[in-house]
Amino acid sequence: MKKIKLFIIESIHKYVFLEFIYRLYLQIFFPKKISHVFKPRFSGWGMATSNYVPWDINKNIFFKEFIRVDEELSSLVKTNNFALSQFQYMFPNKNTFTFLNDLRWRHYIVYTSVSLAIKKTINENVNLVECGVCDGLTIYYALKSIIFQKRKYNAYLYDAWTGMDNSILSDSEKRFEDEYNFLELKKTKENLSIFTGDSIYFNKGFIPESFAKYKKPEKINWLHIDLNSFKATINTLDHFWPEIEDGGVVLFDDYALIGYEDTKKAIDEWINEKVGELTFFQYPTGQAIIIKVI
Ligand SMILES: C[S@@+](CC[C@H](N)C(=O)[O-])C[C@H]1O[C@@H](n2cnc3c(N)ncnc32)[C@H](O)[C@@H]1O
Repeated sequence: MKKIKLFIIESIHKYVFLEFIYRLYLQIFFPKKISHVFKPRFSGWGMATSNYVPWDINKNIFFKEFIRVDEELSSLVKTNNFALSQFQYMFPNKNTFTFLNDLRWRHYIVYTSVSLAIKKTINENVNLVECGVCDGLTIYYALKSIIFQKRKYNAYLYDAWTGMDNSILSDSEKRFEDEYNFLELKKTKENLSIFTGDSIYFNKGFIPESFAKYKKPEKINWLHIDLNSFKATINTLDHFWPEIEDGGVVLFDDYALIGYEDTKKAIDEWINEKVGELTFFQYPTGQAIIIKVI
């Protein structure tokens, strides 16, 4: 019986015609179910879910704060106080706010991974590192998360802000050649000028060469890697891993994204060698997280 049921479900999803008939059947006999099955509450960035999402109306203080931060970013973008040049240059035909909505789960994970890192580590001042900063979109959520926890921080931001280093790209990454050459450090600084009072260090240059130029923090609570390059990703892991605090978090943006298989393979090999030192898991968004455990 179970096998027959599975066969029917698989066939429905395989053939458009059968799916249409199934929709019609649900529409007539189970109109409530149709919204659950075919109209997900959230879809974007390669995932969809029919379950409740953190930004549904609710009374949970953490969710509410994330929603407030997310809406604040949208209004900064609307009033030209935060420029998302990445979207404008790379996807000129797509609406910026549609993009931001699609990325909500991703940003929610950035935001919550920082509070996880703060709670799991013991140092009072929080040190964040981001490699692959671009306009400053993801670090915006990370810094807002620290502010919500009422903690002081230092943020060490690494990016070339001049385009990709084509010489280190694998064959499948060659499509990124000459991307990001529209970036200007000045504009990222302007975007992040809303964060006053704490320290943000802008470490411009190509990874890994730039690592020799800038002193790294002695203790790191949270490291975000979003470089579109498997070599630079591994260089970053090798460089900062010894300074990651016990309980500290490494968040990967590109772990399981379609088209980023070289990055996934390299990270898998890297974590297999360190298996006793960490906990690892993947999110449905394609992001993944390491928690350092000694
Ligand atoms: C996908 S974007 C980062 C997006 C950003 N995390 C966000 O969502 O707001 C990738 C960034 O990595 C930077 N990058 C790529 N390879 C690099 C390298 N070898 N050294 C330094 N920066 C690099 C690019 O300049 C670009 O800004």
